[in-house]
Amino acid sequence: MSRNVLILPGDGIGPEIVAQAERVLASVNDRFQLGIDTDHALVGGSAIDADGVPLPEATLSKAKAADAILLGAVGGPKWDGLEMAKRPEKGLLGLRSELNLFGNLRPAILYPQLADASSLKPELVSGLDLLIVRELTGGIYFGQPRGIRELENGEREGFNTYVYSESEIRRIGRMAFDAARRRGGRLCSVDKANVLEVTVLWREIMNELAAEYPDVELSHMYVDNAAMQLVRAPKQFDVMVTGNMFGDILSDCAAMLTGSIGMLPSASLDENNKGMYEPIHGSAPDIAGQNLANPLATILSVAMMLRYSLDAAEAAEAIEAAVGQVLDQGLRTADIHADGKQKVTTEEMGDAVLAALNAKEV
Ligand code: NAD
Ligand code: IPM
Ligand code: MN
Repeated sequence: MSRNVLILPGDGIGPEIVAQAERVLASVNDRFQLGIDTDHALVGGSAIDADGVPLPEATLSKAKAADAILLGAVGGPKWDGLEMAKRPEKGLLGLRSELNLFGNLRPAILYPQLADASSLKPELVSGLDLLIVRELTGGIYFGQPRGIRELENGEREGFNTYVYSESEIRRIGRMAFDAARRRGGRLCSVDKANVLEVTVLWREIMNELAAEYPDVELSHMYVDNAAMQLVRAPKQFDVMVTGNMFGDILSDCAAMLTGSIGMLPSASLDENNKGMYEPIHGSAPDIAGQNLANPLATILSVAMMLRYSLDAAEAAEAIEAAVGQVLDQGLRTADIHADGKQKVTTEEMGDAVLAALNAKEV
């Protein structure tokens, strides 16, 4: 069986980290005979430079036809002056929306070797394993109307609309309840139901769903408290489910608990587990082109892709084990470096993961 993976390196550090992830994908493809073919396309700033738009038709049609997509990151100062509809980020948002990738899984797992890289005390994070389920194709990111308009008094106002329909809430809720059922059985729904009607409805639907999942313990938390609890006592959480913007913010926060934003992979899934896989971080313009970026979040995103979209759990586990091994060896990119460890480049980290994979007997 042949499966097609579309690779979208994007901008900034995107091509550097994706290059390492591609080597890892090629290696497990050979070793486990997965029959994966890869193809490449442009998205974001690189697509704007080549084609004038952040999501060219050719990229979208390849993405629709692919079994899974691996994306680096998009955006950068070069394109920051463009109007909203023409920015690199619109390429990514367009892919999520066109492919109906409403369910974004962002697991924050602390590799024990990185306890010293976390910004929290080791005892607060050791054993951390939480999953943020972020709604990805609705909420304030996509709500209409939106824009900047002129008022009668001559000043301008900017506006966005925070809206969720019941069916949008229900489908992300189900994805989160299902995930909680397969893990520790606890789900915390994060909202702002003390202020925003849209999240009053969100809370109501989550409560309704809880009746279908008697084995899952549902709790609710306001988003401001959730941000505080994430840095106070993150191990209290098993699965968190929340809307698009709250999930964006809370997942960057959770990332730092694991040592670096360069460690967190993600899966963005539709109803049928077709997915796009990407690190949760951005294009890191401050370190782009310097062989400094941590490629592990992207490499771990390949593992998620194999598990969720390509039915290759064994290959996924091999990658995750190889990442554990390079950390055991004391290899660290700059973002997770600590005294006594060996500082490596993006490429050297890729070399080490490949070596660990190749050293394994099948
Ligand atoms: P960022 O995540 O790119 O960078 C934040 C900080 O984390 C920077 O100091 C950066 O050097 C560091 N960092 C990020 N990834 C790293 C890695 N793999 N290894 C080591 N250090 C890493 O966020 P930002 O600076 O707010 O945004 C930069 C650009 O990226 C913007 O254009 C933004 O829109 C875009 N962005 C894209 C995505 C995406 O494509 N999914 C996600 C977030 C931001
Ligand atoms: C992310 C990013 C994106 C988001 C941007 C680049 C559109 O921050 O994937 O977390 O806000 O979803
Ligand atoms: Mn983000």
